[in-house]
Amino acid sequence: MMVRIGVVGTGGWGKNHVRVLNELQTLAAVCDLDHERADSFSKKYHVPGYTSLEAMLKAEKLDAVTICTPASTHFKMATQALAAGVHIFVEKPMTTSVKDGELLIEAAKNANRFLTVGFIERFNPPITALKQMISEGKMGEPILLEFHRENRRGQNISDVGIVKDASVHDIDTACWLFGEVPKVVYARVGAAYVPLEHEDFATILLGFSGQKTAFLVTNWITPNRVRTLSAVFSGGVVDVDFVTQQTSIHEGSTTTVPTRPVQEPLMLELKGFADAIREKRQPLVTGKDGLNVLRTAEAVLASSSSGTPVYLG
Ligand SMILES: NC(=O)c1ccc[n+]([C@@H]2O[C@H](COP(=O)([O-])OP(=O)(O)OC[C@H]3O[C@@H](n4cnc5c(N)ncnc54)[C@H](O)[C@@H]3O)[C@@H](O)[C@H]2O)c1
Repeated sequence: MMVRIGVVGTGGWGKNHVRVLNELQTLAAVCDLDHERADSFSKKYHVPGYTSLEAMLKAEKLDAVTICTPASTHFKMATQALAAGVHIFVEKPMTTSVKDGELLIEAAKNANRFLTVGFIERFNPPITALKQMISEGKMGEPILLEFHRENRRGQNISDVGIVKDASVHDIDTACWLFGEVPKVVYARVGAAYVPLEHEDFATILLGFSGQKTAFLVTNWITPNRVRTLSAVFSGGVVDVDFVTQQTSIHEGSTTTVPTRPVQEPLMLELKGFADAIREKRQPLVTGKDGLNVLRTAEAVLASSSSGTPVYLG
C-alpha cells in the first residue's frame, strides 16, 4: 500500500522531513505559512504546496501528516489533522503543556488514529543497540545514565525553553532505556543570556525505581556541539556519542568499539512511521510517552522554582 504523508512546517527541521519522506516515496504534499517556502519545496519535490493545513487536508487524500511547526502550534495543528481523519507524527515537544497533551491523546483515541512523537534518539543506532544490550542483560543492571546535550542556541526563536525543547530528548531516552518513568525529579534551571524569555540551561536529576538514576546536563551556552551519554552498569560502562554514533564499551580494563554503519536517525524514524501506517500498528513512540516526558519536564521546572524535589505519583 502506498502511504501518502504531508509535511506541515518546512523550516529548519521540517525541510529534513520533506527530503527524507521524498526519499521514502511517501511525500504527498507540503505546507508552510510562508508561501515562498511552500512554493520552493513544492517545485523541488514535485508535490502540491499549501500555505494552510486546512487547505492541504481538504485538497489532498492523505494517510498522515508530520507536524514540524513551532511547539506552541502543535496542539492546534494535531487536533485539526486528527479531525480530518489522518494519523499524526508530532515533532517534540508533543504539546507545550500536560493538559494539552492529555486532550491530544484523547482526540487521537476518539479519531481512532495513531499519534506518535519525534523522539528521534530512540532511532539513533547506538541507542537502539544500547536498548538491546539492556534487554539482553549483557552488562548487568543499568544504574546511571549521564546525558550531556550542549550547544550554542540556534538562530530560530524558540517558543519554549530548553527543558521542553532539548532536555525532552534525553528524558525520553532515559525512560525508554530504563523501561519506566521517574519517581522523583530534582532540577536547577536558569537563563544565562539576557534578555531571554525562557531558561537556557538545566541540570536535572531523575530518580527511577531502585537505584536507577539519570543525570541530564542541557544548555544553549557551550560553543561546540556536545551530545553524549555515559551509561553505568553493574558490569561496566558504555559511552555513546549521539553525533558520531560511536559506542565505546568498557569492561574491566578492556575497551571495545563496535563497528556499525552510520545511518540517519530521521530516515529510520520516518521509515518506522510509514511502515507502522502501512501495517496498521502503533509506531514505536506513543502519545503516552510524549505525555510522560511533558509531565517530567513540568516537574523539572516546578522543582527548580520551588528548590525542592518533585515526587511523581
Ligand atoms: N527531532 C529533532 O531532532 C528536532 C530538531 C529540530 C527541531 N525539531 C522540532 O521541529 C519543530 C520545528 O522546529 P524548526 O527548528 O524547524 O522551526 P522553524 O521556525 O525553523 O520552522 C517552522 C516552520 O513552520 C512554519 N509555520 C509556522 N506556523 C505555521 C502554520 N500555522 N502553518 C504552516 N506552517 C507554519 C514556519 O513558516 C516555518 O517555516 C519544533 O517542534 C522543534 O522542536 C525537532
